[in-house]
Amino acid sequence: MTIYILLLLIAMQLIGVYFFQNLEDRFYENFRDNLEKQAGILQEVIKDKMTPGTESEKQRKAIDDILNKLPLDKKNTIQIVDQESVVIATTSGENSRIGQKNKSPRVSRVLQGIESPSVEVSHKAGNRYMVYSYPIKNDGDIIGAVYIEAPMQEMYDTIRTVSKILIKITAAAMVGTSLLGIILARTITNPVKEITEQATVMAEGDFNRKVTVKSDDEIGKLASAFNHLAQHLRDALSQNEEEKGRLQSVLANMSDGVIATDRKGKVIVSNRRARKMLGKDIELNEDINQVLPLANPISFPLTEERESFLELNRDEDETLILKLTFTPVLRASREAVGLILVLQDVTEEEKLDRQRKEFVANVSHELRTPLTTIKSYLEALDEGGAMEEPELASRFLRVTRQEAERMTRLIHDLLQLSKLDSEKVRFHKQPLRLEELLEDAADRFSFQCRQKDIAFSLSIRKPLPRVYADRDQIDRVLDNLLSNAVKYTPEGQSVSLSAHRRSDGYVEVVVSDKGIGIPKKDLDRIFERFYRVDKARSRSMGGTGLGLAIAREIVQAHGGTIRMDSRYGEGTTVRFTLPPCEPEVNPA
Ligand SMILES: Nc1ncnc2c1ncn2[C@@H]1O[C@H](COP(=O)(O)OP(=O)(O)OP(=O)(O)O)[C@@H](O)[C@H]1O
Ligand SMILES: [Mg+2]
Repeated sequence: MTIYILLLLIAMQLIGVYFFQNLEDRFYENFRDNLEKQAGILQEVIKDKMTPGTESEKQRKAIDDILNKLPLDKKNTIQIVDQESVVIATTSGENSRIGQKNKSPRVSRVLQGIESPSVEVSHKAGNRYMVYSYPIKNDGDIIGAVYIEAPMQEMYDTIRTVSKILIKITAAAMVGTSLLGIILARTITNPVKEITEQATVMAEGDFNRKVTVKSDDEIGKLASAFNHLAQHLRDALSQNEEEKGRLQSVLANMSDGVIATDRKGKVIVSNRRARKMLGKDIELNEDINQVLPLANPISFPLTEERESFLELNRDEDETLILKLTFTPVLRASREAVGLILVLQDVTEEEKLDRQRKEFVANVSHELRTPLTTIKSYLEALDEGGAMEEPELASRFLRVTRQEAERMTRLIHDLLQLSKLDSEKVRFHKQPLRLEELLEDAADRFSFQCRQKDIAFSLSIRKPLPRVYADRDQIDRVLDNLLSNAVKYTPEGQSVSLSAHRRSDGYVEVVVSDKGIGIPKKDLDRIFERFYRVDKARSRSMGGTGLGLAIAREIVQAHGGTIRMDSRYGEGTTVRFTLPPCEPEVNPA
């Protein structure tokens, strides 16, 4: 604003200086022209009257007449001089000057023809005069001169008056333009200033301020357009924030790990799951090849999808298997701008897969062993002439039959397991008193134990609630557990079978022996199919390694649990539970 007024002042000053300069020049020119015209006319009229030889008095009178008759400006002093600078006639009653010499050097210069005409500004008694001398010529000869002395005061007065008017107008214009400037500033500069401030605030992220719309003109429209823009930006930004939040929570709650990198492989995003899987913090900007201990580091830019597996050793015996899927983020031009890595924990799948493969291998092996034996015995019978020796032949046949039975048992067990797996086994569940079942089983095994010199005991803490179960299947479980106990307990030791009601109402059956026990490392896998602690020994005892697996499936199908505790060399205890038949109202 101040600058604007200063500029105005400077402009006014320049215009003023130029104007006054011009004004004075113009007035001066005009003044001079007037005098020139007067002198020209006078010289035309007078030159005839100044013919040499005419009587001087007569001549003077004639000229005087002319001077008096002509409508000349009375303020000017006009003198007509002859060749010798002697005044012949004059206006304004200066008759005393007639006959005297005009001493002005200008006149003599004009008479001599050095200057024509001569103009000079002189000061006299504090006033300014223009002195104008003009030659009077007759047939080319200078016969005299017109001398005019014109006061310039009036001209300067006029200039002063004009100047005063001009100054007043200028001052008024100044005030006017300043006022206009202030109004303009109010209507243009202030809103623009406000918009500028708003833009600065917006750049810093604050979209809540509004520009006040004061008018309906372009500035007003600009202001409301700006408010509109701010509103849109705010909406877009909050939408963006929401999206970001949603993405963040999706990422945070994903069961897979996710890491995103830029085109150079520097981490830009990672979720909690990824950090947990890798068991370490992932810093922003960290190189992905440093985050993952990969055998083949990834080279950037990655343009094709890639898959690999990573095995991480967590604890002593816990290995985590991660499947890594690297997907490049491509632009429309197929230029890679980043990478998304998804980490999936496939430990369980891999374990299952390994178990499946092991299972197939085990089945084949288990079937092949008896088959090979049968085949070799049959060949011996056929070719070796064993048929001739009846004793040998019957021994061979006995072995063959035993092996065939073993195979049948194995296949029966496998079928049973497969049925249990596919839930095709029909359980004939009914309310059952376990006491009977346990007593029968004890009867069956006490005979075997006596044979092996193993002390056998049965203890049932009564009353036992009835259970809802399939008698045959539970028999199978008991048989298996008891046969294991007897099988893996050396002579002279003891085996016990007991049952009681647990505080939660379940019935718990416990088979315990003081046998060879199971090493701790095998305990976790003991319920797996075909898992045996000592394969050779177990097989020699006719075991297939499916007994415990089947027992577990059956117990679980009844809604119970089974677990094994054992100390190597000291003995083993297996417990399984069965849910009570109906919720007991009165446990007594
Ligand atoms: N009471 C026990 N004491 C010591 N080891 C045992 C005991 N019970 C089971 N085992 C071990 O667990 C393995 C698996 O038992 P499981 O009953 O499944 O198979 P198995 O007895 O060998 O054969 P199957 O029961 O099919 O005839 C056995 O081979 C044995 O090594
Ligand atoms: Mg067994």
